Formats: sequence, C-alpha cells, structure tokens
Amino acid sequence: MTQTRQEIVQDNNRSIHHNLSPSQLIEIAVQREEGRLADNGALVVETGERTGRSPKDRFIVEENDSKEQIDWGAVNQPFDAAKFDALWQRVGEYLSEQDIFVSDLHVGASKEHYLPVQINTEYAWHCLFGSTLFIKPGDNYNPADKPVWQIMSAPGFVCEPDRDGTNSDGAVIINFSQRKVLLAGMRYAGEMKKSMFSVQNFLLPEKNVLPMHCSANVGDDGQVCLFFGLSGTGKTTLSADEDRDLIGDDEHGWGKDIVFNLEGGCYAKCIDLSQKNEPVIWDAIKFGAVIENVVIDEQTREADYSDTSLTENTRACYPLTHIKRRVPENSAGEPKAIIFLTCDLTGVLPPVSILSKEAAAYHFLSGYTALVGSTEVGAEPGIKSTFSNCFGAPFFPRPAGVYAELLIKRVQEFDSQVYLVNTGWTGGPHGVGERFKIPTTRAILHAIQSGALRNVETKHLDGINLTVPLDVPGVDNTLLEPRNTWSDPAEYDARAADLIEQFRNNFSRFEVSEEITAAGPQAL
Ligand code: ATP
Ligand code: OXD
Ligand code: MN
Repeated sequence: MTQTRQEIVQDNNRSIHHNLSPSQLIEIAVQREEGRLADNGALVVETGERTGRSPKDRFIVEENDSKEQIDWGAVNQPFDAAKFDALWQRVGEYLSEQDIFVSDLHVGASKEHYLPVQINTEYAWHCLFGSTLFIKPGDNYNPADKPVWQIMSAPGFVCEPDRDGTNSDGAVIINFSQRKVLLAGMRYAGEMKKSMFSVQNFLLPEKNVLPMHCSANVGDDGQVCLFFGLSGTGKTTLSADEDRDLIGDDEHGWGKDIVFNLEGGCYAKCIDLSQKNEPVIWDAIKFGAVIENVVIDEQTREADYSDTSLTENTRACYPLTHIKRRVPENSAGEPKAIIFLTCDLTGVLPPVSILSKEAAAYHFLSGYTALVGSTEVGAEPGIKSTFSNCFGAPFFPRPAGVYAELLIKRVQEFDSQVYLVNTGWTGGPHGVGERFKIPTTRAILHAIQSGALRNVETKHLDGINLTVPLDVPGVDNTLLEPRNTWSDPAEYDARAADLIEQFRNNFSRFEVSEEITAAGPQAL
C-alpha cells in the first residue's frame, strides 16, 4: 500500500505537521489543551458557540462554469469570486503564523469517483476528524491522477462581514473552479465533512452517479440496504446493526453496479446513547474517536450522554475500523431495499409503507420529516416538521429534480423496492403519543431486509395515500395502521387532513408528471 508522506516541516518558526497518525494527533491535541481524554479513550472537545452546522454562513462562489446548474437560494447562497480570493488569502496569512496540520485524503471509496483532498487545519483535532471522516489513501492513490481539492480550516479566524462579504464572523465557502473549501471561524467539525459532501453532490450527477444522504449496510445474503433520512431520523443508529455489515452511516454514491461510501468514518449523535440500545456505536467510541460537546465527569472522566448542557447535538466521530461488522472495501453492489426514514411528529404516518416508483419520487422530492433544532445554528430550539428535498436539502447544490430523476432511473434499472419508515411518533402527535421504540423500528427493517414485505397482503390508506402491510413479523399489528393507535380517531382524521394539506402545498413547487403528483397524499 502506498503510504502518504509523514513529516514535520519547520517554516518561519512554526511547524507544519504532515499526515500524522491518529495517536500523534491525539497526543498533540492533549498537549495543546485542545481537548481531554475520556475514560473510554475518546478525545473530548468543545466547539464553542456553534454546536451544529451554520446554514446561514454557507456559500458557493458564483462563477460562469457552474452558475447555471446551481439551485440558488437560502441553501445555496452566492458568494462573490473576488471576495473569496481576498478572504482565502487573508485566512492563509492567518494560518501562516501558526503550527498547522495537513493531511492528504480522499472523498469517495471508488477508484473512478474519488476526489483527492488536502486538509490544512489550525487544530490537531480537526485534522484527526478529517483524517477519520475522509478516506486514507490506499493502493489507488496517485496524486498525479486528479487535481486535488483544498480545505482550509481556521476556526480561530474571525470574519468581518463588511470587509469579507460574509454573513457573520464565520463562513463555509465552496469554490468549484479553484477546488477550494474555506472554513473560517468554524469549530463544529461536521462542517468539514458536509462541505465535501456538497462538492460530491454537485459533481457526481454529471458522471451518472447518484449522491445520497443515506447510510448503507449489507446482509449475510449480500443484499444492500440504503437508509435515506435528514439529520436525527436514524441513519447512523439503524445502520449500526449487529446482524449486518456496515458500509457507511451518512454519504454514499450509487452508480451502475456499485454503492460506495464517500467517507471513511461515522459521525453519530450521542444524545442519550446507551450500551443497551446502541451497542455498536457505544463500542466504537474508544481511543481514536472524538466526542464533541459531550460533558464528562471532572474526576472519573466518564461521559454523560444524557447531559445536554452544551447542546443536544452531541457527536462522536470514529473510523469505520472501530466497527466489527463492516464491509472492508467500503462499497458493495446495488441496493434491493431502499428505506426513506421520516421522523413524523404528527403521529399520522404509519411505521412502514410500501412505495410505488411514483410514490418514491414523490416522497423523495418532498422529504417530509422533522428538523431537530440543535443540528443547525440559528434554528428554533426543539423539533418541528419540515420538508427537506432529497432528505438532505442543505447539502444539494443542484435542483432536487436532478437527483430525483437519477434515483428513479437507478431504482427502475435495478428493480429496487422503496419503503417509507416512520421513526417518529405513534399514538398521537409529539407531546401526546410516543416515539417508536428502536426495537420496533429494527424489527420493521429486518422484515424489509429479509424480503418478508415483498408480495404481502396490504391495505391502502386513503388520503395520505399509502400502502401498508397487514402483518410485519415481530411488530404488534395494531401499530401498522396509525389511526388505530390514537385514542380519538376523529382527532387523527383532523391531523391527517392538516398534514395532507401541508404535503400538497409544499409539492406545488415541483413540476413533475401527473403520475408522480397523483402518488402523493390527496385531499379526501
Ligand atoms: P445525522 O444526519 O445528523 O447524522 P442520523 O440520521 O444519522 O442524523 P441518528 O444519529 O441515527 O440520526 O439519530 C437518531 C436519534 O434518534 C438517535 O439519538 C436515536 O437514539 C433516536 N431514536 C429514538 N427512537 C428512534 C427510532 N425509532 N429509530 C431511530 N432512532 C431513534
Ligand atoms: C447535519 C447532518 O449536519 O446530517 O444535518 O449531520
Ligand atoms: Mn448520522
């Protein structure tokens, strides 16, 4: 295997650390007091004011080559090219006066579709995060092969909106023509991985590959299962399955004959993490892992995952090698089963529905789910319903239709079956009913993955226009039809009517075939 060059270069009285190992980076991070060690071996860090992504500070440089293809708006905000050059230079000067950490990595576990990326970071722990979440170059690494993307991450740099053209003291800016990502004033490390995800989300469709905000795992029968879902719906939790091999927990590409991970590690939410409910994630949090904004006991150094005093968006990042049951190639074949995870706060959606191809297109474009406030800086606290196209609107630079068309093409060619799985509320809305228990959701997933829900007896639910199985092994039948779980069915009907209205209002912005619109919820 080709090794990336490891060295420490002295330059102008400062050190540039190239390609240090996790142990070296952890040692330095502790020495520099960037973080501390928890009793489980993980490096514990805090990210200051920003404990989630900052969508209002995310920009794409507006330039001729890409401008027509980008879906400009609140998600993809334009940034002036000259202002970008000035800010890049300013941040570069800021970093040139301190020790930095450099690592040469890949994004994409595919010989054909990977992007080489070099990260330059101010913090040792950010370098560890990047080296964990991106992929370590292996045999297929040939730097001369492809132009290299540059990430410059300077969390200590303070932007000045008037001078720099940013929205606040921090910014995430993607420049496609120069292959640069600038992260200024950002300590929350998730920005690093999500910015390169956005880059691949722009580039892959041109190569006939669908980039997806999904997790992926493989059964003993070799069948691949994908789990799409916005943050907090269960991608990481549910793909970490003791009975299946994990590919990845968040970002994948789907091309002819292949599903490949874009990443080399996972980034799990830790709120209320328990060994009993989530043993795979629990065991992965050891030396080499980083836990962000998790509170630890001063003396015992034990992590308290129930403590949300810093944020509800506490996170653990760990390499895939910390997972016993994983796919070492980091890729596999095409998926027979595709699951859209939705966290429904209204308690109206069934725990599992079987979607036609048209309904799959409808629900992929709609992306109905819940937004967990803590994942995004500036969002209202708590949790509220949202429509996030492609189950990940914040990360997709092109119009949603581009991704939806590719998805349906792939689904048709491979004859995949799509299911809508509600990991949210049952028995009433948020505040009244309760969230589906993780073991219930897992039983549904296992039924899907085993093929037990193909060609079964079903019932059609009018209005929300969904088809549900009458029986799922291991799941109480009464749960399958949500109306039966509410104490007052009339209240269910009223809430369902309201949700249907929301679906229809949201969908009016898409121009699609009659068949797709007809496959969505219909007013009764
Ligand atoms: P992100 O994109 O931010 O990484 P994610 O989709 O990976 O988000 P998870 O990290 O899996 O989301 O978070 C799901 C959270 O919801 C976990 O804290 C999990 O314990 C909790 N949860 C509660 N009930 C369920 C359920 N029925 N299914 C899945 N997760 C559940
Ligand atoms: C997010 C995520 O930041 O999915 O929303 O991790
Ligand atoms: Mn996740």
